[in-house]
Amino acid sequence: MSDEGGQERPSIFECVRKGFASASNYEKVRPDYPINAVKAFLQSLRLLGSVKTVRADRVKILELGSGTGKFTRVMLEVLKDEDVQVIASDPLGNMCEHFKRLLPDTEIIQCVAENIGLPDASVDVVIASQSFHYFANATALEEINRVLVPGGLFGIFWVMPDFSTPWMAELWKFFAPLYKEKSIILPFEEEWKNVFSLTPRKLFSDVEEDLSFSHTLPSSFDEDYNYFASASVIASGSESTKESLRELFNEVMKKHFKEKGIELDHFPFKIFLYWCTKAI
Ligand SMILES: C[S@@+](CC[C@H](N)C(=O)[O-])C[C@H]1O[C@@H](n2cnc3c(N)ncnc32)[C@H](O)[C@@H]1O
Repeated sequence: MSDEGGQERPSIFECVRKGFASASNYEKVRPDYPINAVKAFLQSLRLLGSVKTVRADRVKILELGSGTGKFTRVMLEVLKDEDVQVIASDPLGNMCEHFKRLLPDTEIIQCVAENIGLPDASVDVVIASQSFHYFANATALEEINRVLVPGGLFGIFWVMPDFSTPWMAELWKFFAPLYKEKSIILPFEEEWKNVFSLTPRKLFSDVEEDLSFSHTLPSSFDEDYNYFASASVIASGSESTKESLRELFNEVMKKHFKEKGIELDHFPFKIFLYWCTKAI
């Protein structure tokens, strides 16, 4: 995509447009966030207890890729006694509409992380929850750096299926190449942090992390399947990709649960928390 000046403008992954076309399905099949991990994350971003800003205003938090507001709702609950302003954002109109219905009192702007329509140094904290893999590029990092105040913080939160669980590890073998072929990074490999070396100047401090949280939700065969089927790389994929996932999921269920007479009644997640500070 190019603008009137002929400059390349980043676009949204096709799998995002197609895969997240139904905001209501996303809202239904994706898990809610565990409050203890969100609290620890916001603590690392210095948002709990007498929060301060270098601007003459309330502490301003920008959330990128808010979707239907699953993370936003828990964040607002955790920060209900803090003097903060949350601005949510998402590039997809349907996600923004759904967000507005669920959170009518919270501002949401429609934008990509690569082109945030906010002034320079106007935000104290930028948060990407379950979304950074869609804009892990130099343009977005420059833009996040631009809107942050000096010393502002950037936090990344991922809550992912725990693919170290044996039955999930078999599913990951199917998913990994689908993400790889689209160059979508995920936090399972340390190399994901190489994205911070893509900018000509070092924009952020070294990334700090907390990998101590996990989360298990009561679930069922159908709910677990619906979660995997809602992944953008599947929901946007061909009928044969969807069918292959269905077949693999049935096989894995048979091998690890049905043949052993075990009921699948839970979904294990692993939580990845990262944060860094604007360096320049
Ligand atoms: C997996 S959803 C996460 C939504 C929400 N944060 C949550 O935790 O449920 C990823 C979101 O990132 C958004 N997204 C995709 N590409 C983006 C980009 N370039 N800039 C900002 N957000 C983007 C999608 O529209 C989608 O709503």
